[in-house]
Amino acid sequence: MASLVLLLLLLLLSAASQTISTLSTTTTDAYPSVPLTETTECSISTNNDELIPVRREVYDGGRIIDITHRYTTEMPSFESADGIGQFLWLPKSMKNGSIANNSEMKLPAHTGTHVDAPGHVFDHYFDAGFDVDTLDLEVLNGPALLVDVPRDTNITAEVMKSLNIPRGVRRVLFRTLNTNRRLMFKKEFDTSYVGFMKDGAKWLVENTDIKLVGIDYLSVAAYDDLIPSHLVFLKGREIILVEALKLDNVQPGIYSVHCLPLRLLGAEGSPIRCVLIK
Ligand SMILES: *[C@@H]1O[C@H](CO)[C@@H](O)[C@H](O)[C@H]1NC(C)=O
Ligand SMILES: *[C@@H]1O[C@H](CO)[C@@H](O)[C@H](O)[C@H]1NC(C)=O
Ligand SMILES: *[C@@H]1O[C@H](CO)[C@@H](O)[C@H](O)[C@H]1NC(C)=O
Repeated sequence: MASLVLLLLLLLLSAASQTISTLSTTTTDAYPSVPLTETTECSISTNNDELIPVRREVYDGGRIIDITHRYTTEMPSFESADGIGQFLWLPKSMKNGSIANNSEMKLPAHTGTHVDAPGHVFDHYFDAGFDVDTLDLEVLNGPALLVDVPRDTNITAEVMKSLNIPRGVRRVLFRTLNTNRRLMFKKEFDTSYVGFMKDGAKWLVENTDIKLVGIDYLSVAAYDDLIPSHLVFLKGREIILVEALKLDNVQPGIYSVHCLPLRLLGAEGSPIRCVLIK
C-alpha cells in the first residue's frame, strides 16, 4: 500500500515538473514572433507542448471543413506583386505596460476569402446602401454543390451548359485550375486566373437558379471580363459572390455551406468565414 502511494506521488511530481519546464520555455520563445506569419501551411501539434496552438483545416474528424484562407502577410492582393503585407499592429501591448494586448488591423475589404455586395460595381446601388450588411444570410447558408470546372478553359456559356447543374440548385462553389495552381498561396497576383467570362455569367443568370456563386481566386470574373461579368452577376441584386475560397482537398459533391460576412455598414465587400459541413 505504502509503495503504491509513493509511486503515485512520484508520478505526480514528475508530471508537475514537466509542466513547469514546458511553460517556462515557451513563454520566452513566444515573443516577439507573430504566430500568423510563421507558417502558411497548417501546422501539426506536437502534443508534448500545450502552448503550441493547433491550426486546423478540418474540425470534428473532417465533418466541418474550413474553406476560408488564413490571412497572412504573404497572401495575394488584387493587382499587387507584393501580397497584402503587414495588416496587424499592436499599438497596446503587455510588453509595453498595457493591461492587455490590443491589435489593430488594416485590410482592403476584398482581401482573402471575401464577399461582394451589389455596390461593388454599381454606384447607384452603393449610394442606396446595398452593402454587405444587406446580404441575405439565407443565400449564404444552406445546401451547396461543389463542382469541378474543366481545367483548360475559363467559365464560358458553353462550360456552364456542360456542367449540367440542375434547376433548383441555389448554391454552387466552382473549383477551377486556380486550386491546382495554388494561386491563393502565391504572393504575386496572377491575371491568368480562371473565372467567369461575360457569356458564362449571363448563362448562369438566365438558365439556373444559382444565387450563391463561389470561386477559388480573388475574383469570380476572369481578368479579361472583370467588370462585365461582375455587372451581369450583381445587377439583379439577388446573386451573392464569394471569392477566394479554399477548395483544396475537398471531394466534389453536396454539402451544407455556411458563410458569414462582417456587418460593415457602407462596405461593398467584406472578409467572410465559410465552412462546409458534411
Ligand atoms: C501579449 O500578452 C501576453 C500575455 O497574455 C504576453 O505574454 C505577451 O508578451 C504580450 N505580447 C506583446 C507583444 O506584448
Ligand atoms: C513598445 O514601445 C516602443 C517605444 O514606443 C516601441 O518601439 C515598440 O515597438 C513597442 N513594442 C510593442 C511590442 O508594442
Ligand atoms: C482565362 O482567362 C485569362 C484572362 O482573363 C487567361 O489569361 C487564361 O489563360 C485563361 N485560362 C484558361 C485556362 O483558359
